[in-house]
Amino acid sequence: MEKITVTLKEHSYPINIGSGLLNKPLLYMPVKAGQQAMIVTNHTLEILYLKQLYQILKKNGIKINQIVLPDGEQYKTLSTLEEILSELLKKSHNRDTTLIALGGGVIGDLTGFAASCYQRGVRFVQIPTTLLSQVDASVGGKTAINHSLGKNMIGSFYQPTSVIIDLNCLDTLSKREFSSGLAEVVKYGLALDCNFFVWLETNMKKLLEKNIDALAYCVRRCCELKAQIITIDEHENSLRSLLNLGHTFGHAIETFMSYGTWLHGEAISVGIVMASSISYEIGILSAYDLKRIKTLLLCANLPIYGPQEMTPISYFPYIMRDKKIFSGKLRLILPTSIGCADIRNDISCSIIKKSIAMNILIK
Ligand SMILES: NC(=O)c1ccc[n+]([C@@H]2O[C@H](COP(=O)([O-])OP(=O)(O)OC[C@H]3O[C@@H](n4cnc5c(N)ncnc54)[C@H](O)[C@@H]3O)[C@@H](O)[C@H]2O)c1
Ligand SMILES: [Zn+2]
Repeated sequence: MEKITVTLKEHSYPINIGSGLLNKPLLYMPVKAGQQAMIVTNHTLEILYLKQLYQILKKNGIKINQIVLPDGEQYKTLSTLEEILSELLKKSHNRDTTLIALGGGVIGDLTGFAASCYQRGVRFVQIPTTLLSQVDASVGGKTAINHSLGKNMIGSFYQPTSVIIDLNCLDTLSKREFSSGLAEVVKYGLALDCNFFVWLETNMKKLLEKNIDALAYCVRRCCELKAQIITIDEHENSLRSLLNLGHTFGHAIETFMSYGTWLHGEAISVGIVMASSISYEIGILSAYDLKRIKTLLLCANLPIYGPQEMTPISYFPYIMRDKKIFSGKLRLILPTSIGCADIRNDISCSIIKKSIAMNILIK
């Protein structure tokens, strides 16, 4: 078992990483016998892990309820949020209740937002079950729901009380969802850690085989990197923006294509390539590094071309609503070499358009 601490002034918390942690959840949770808690999950996780978690908590005297939501990015909405809040009220949950998110990033983002709003804030625990949520979404306290006009446009910064990562949950994850998580993994290496990128180049095959040692190292390294960044810049005033590498273009793809059609990581993979192409076009990234980035994403079974349904122009309405726009200027995260990235607000529309066009396959 590994423990990483996210050190913050007011709410430091542990990220526990290991195999089989779901069997002893109370070792890592802030809930005690006699207290209330609500597990928030979806129909897929209900079959896989809910019963086990529910029964352990119940046996240990927790006043436990559960809410099982439909599965999918298209349900990360205001109306699902309302369902969670209504259930909490119906079951008379008080301010000392704890919400437990059992699922991927969709469940984590929704539950975190519900926890931040319910009675002005209650405790919440993240139990991420996808690779993407274990390496990224469950750590750092960004919570959100989508709007038809933009992804993650309504939300809050609200840190969990603890994060419990059981690597065994990845056994049941589909290959496509697993690869989706690898896009965020590649993002960490590319934006922050050259050695980790090189490690990924060497170990991608082991990761795809779900080799437990490779997985443990990979998840731990990503969480360490994220924890370091959050400690310095919790509210994304500077350094944390680097973790948005690929997301300006990726969110445009996810929103245009209707939520759930392209997986988050698939869209981010193409977004990383588009951002890297801009870097290459303006002369801050070498052709060799651009090739390495594309090769690693392809090795992870991720797409590197945008959807054919989208013209370069069709990206712009979404890009211009991006949360990274400050004083009317779009801020792009651009890799400058493997392991380094820069925040730039001086890139012309024509360069952006050209770089998008270069990464759409012509029929
Ligand atoms: N808050 C953040 O900092 C942050 C960071 C990155 C991504 N996100 C958000 O996370 C979401 C994507 O997360 P995701 O990729 O985990 O998607 P997801 O939550 O939709 O999960 C993917 C699919 O895998 C299923 N699943 C989950 N765990 C499983 C398991 N162990 N075995 C089998 N199936 C399982 C889910 O039911 C779902 O069908 C997006 O909404 C994105 O915006 C948030
Ligand atoms: Zn992401």
